[in-house]
Amino acid sequence: MSSPAQINYSTSQQKVGTLPLVALCKYVAISGLFLFFFYMVLFDKKHYQPFDLLATFKQKWPSSSSTKISTPSSTPTNLSHIVFGIAGSMNTWKIKRFYTQAWWRPNVTRGYVFLDRPPTKEFLPWSPSSPPFRVNENVEVLKLDPKITRPFQVRIVRTILEIFRLDDQDVRWYVMADDDTVFAVDNLVEALAKYDHTKKFYIGTNSECVKSNFDFAFEMAFGGAGYALSYPLVAALAGKLDSCIKKYSRAWVTSDLMLYSCLSDQGVALTHNPGFHQVDLFGDVSGLLSSHPQTPFLSLHHIDNIKPIFPNKNRPDSINHLMKAAKADQSRLLQQTICHHKTTNWTLSISWGYSAHIYENILPRNFLRKPLETFKPWKVMRPPLFMFNTRWPNNDPCEAPHMFFLHSVENSTEEDRIVTTYVRASPRGLPNCSSSGNHSADHMAMIRVFSPTKLPLEATGRDCCDVAYTPGMNITEVRYRTCIKDEITA
Ligand SMILES: *[C@@H]1O[C@H](CO)[C@@H](O)[C@H](O)[C@H]1NC(C)=O
Ligand SMILES: *[C@@H]1O[C@H](CO)[C@@H](O)[C@H](O)[C@H]1NC(C)=O
Ligand SMILES: *[C@@H]1O[C@H](CO)[C@@H](O)[C@H](O)[C@H]1NC(C)=O
Ligand SMILES: *[C@@H]1O[C@H](CO)[C@@H](O)[C@H](O)[C@H]1NC(C)=O
Ligand SMILES: *[C@@H]1O[C@H](CO)[C@@H](O)[C@H](O)[C@H]1NC(C)=O
Ligand SMILES: *[C@@H]1O[C@H](CO)[C@@H](O)[C@H](O)[C@H]1NC(C)=O
Ligand SMILES: *[C@@H]1O[C@H](CO)[C@@H](O)[C@H](O)[C@H]1NC(C)=O
Repeated sequence: MSSPAQINYSTSQQKVGTLPLVALCKYVAISGLFLFFFYMVLFDKKHYQPFDLLATFKQKWPSSSSTKISTPSSTPTNLSHIVFGIAGSMNTWKIKRFYTQAWWRPNVTRGYVFLDRPPTKEFLPWSPSSPPFRVNENVEVLKLDPKITRPFQVRIVRTILEIFRLDDQDVRWYVMADDDTVFAVDNLVEALAKYDHTKKFYIGTNSECVKSNFDFAFEMAFGGAGYALSYPLVAALAGKLDSCIKKYSRAWVTSDLMLYSCLSDQGVALTHNPGFHQVDLFGDVSGLLSSHPQTPFLSLHHIDNIKPIFPNKNRPDSINHLMKAAKADQSRLLQQTICHHKTTNWTLSISWGYSAHIYENILPRNFLRKPLETFKPWKVMRPPLFMFNTRWPNNDPCEAPHMFFLHSVENSTEEDRIVTTYVRASPRGLPNCSSSGNHSADHMAMIRVFSPTKLPLEATGRDCCDVAYTPGMNITEVRYRTCIKDEITA
């Protein structure tokens, strides 16, 4: 039996980059109202005409002051305003469908998976757990241009045109992705709701790898990570896409590059939004997912190129396991919270819903937020390889973590608490950091994290935490709480 809890608390903080509060200048509000008015009057879905005034205004008012303000009269953006377009293929659907089904909510999420040919008997009747399918138009039959080098890529970019023609109602955003992309849809809604859907927006992110961005473009949204196009942008693009494809389809291009080129011609630049993950990486991405940037997690891609994200699970099971945490609290999913525990000299780093690390040392946040480079780049070349700093895994017992991965997600018996538990992947196999005293974490088997059920992370922007550890016990408890004003880690 356990001894009476002799609990030591130590405090720490978690800081999430809060969005800068945009000053709502009077002239911006007025121009916004004008735009909205013009949009309502002239920008009718059925009789769409290119409306260059929008573009003119967009250039006039810099994005920092005008783009993130929703039109006052519009209702908040919710999931029903998003239509997803998934680029699929019959040859790979057998495996990839699991990744789409992991996040798809039948009868709730709207959208389609676009296939290169009609489904074979094996997939009929079509599973209600998958998005409904559509078959892309045949690029070769369309004869857009005799010199198209990669019809497969043209098929994918034309999905934007084909999904628009399906004429879904009340669409604010088209979100395009691949069949091996996994979304956190609640976070995606939160992210898109911050932008004005009545303006032309191209929102996404580039690759983790410098080389991928160098080869294509740093300012290009990588489609596997997923990107969002506002309705007015798609409406403007649709009529011009085929002629633009003719212009850009001849070289060694991808669908993403064609889209980027076409949008550049229209004067629309990428709005970088972090949290989408192209994952142009190989191997074990646990280092990256354990030190995820402090921004809502939106997507994960290339599941088949990386090792399963959880040890001892296959790829579909791994993704479904992560989704258990996603269902409980997306706002905290993969968000890093760090606590220091003075009496043991431990640092705990929790990537909520995914992993927990114990370091036998007090380590600063700016060190822990750098991912352990457990993964390989898309292409091996001279550094710099990645768009972010990393730290190299090493055998220094004061820098190498004891690693624990998500085991369970449950409602606590305590009111308003979710309990996530994390169990040790394998023994660390290193000496103790400190030779004096008893600071070893070798005996630790599980970390149990209590987090709020009802207070989403974005409400406060950060979590602080306390560590409860009883010497000799093989479970450590971490309790998330609201930070004290201006609390800092000491
Ligand atoms: C989403 O917002 C629309 C208003 O734009 C509303 O009619 C609809 O009920 C909302 N849907 C959900 C699921 O909240
Ligand atoms: C989705 O809707 C269809 C028809 O409206 C219904 O038959 C089906 O049971 C629903 N599926 C789910 C999972 O709710
Ligand atoms: C605790 O960690 C600090 C910072 O690394 C170190 O200076 C100190 O010696 C450690 N204390 C013990 C008892 O190991
Ligand atoms: C946890 O509680 C919420 C409501 O507070 C409920 O919707 C959910 O189903 C519960 N989950 C489990 C695993 O019991
Ligand atoms: C680490 O410290 C613990 C507790 O003091 C001790 O039992 C264990 O033998 C030490 N491990 C090594 C490898 O020295
Ligand atoms: C943790 O300790 C308890 C007894 O205190 C024991 O029953 C349990 O098996 C231990 N767990 C592990 C994984 O060692
Ligand atoms: C030292 O750590 C071991 C586990 O490694 C634990 O069983 C023991 O109770 C600890 N001793 C003290 C004095 O805390």
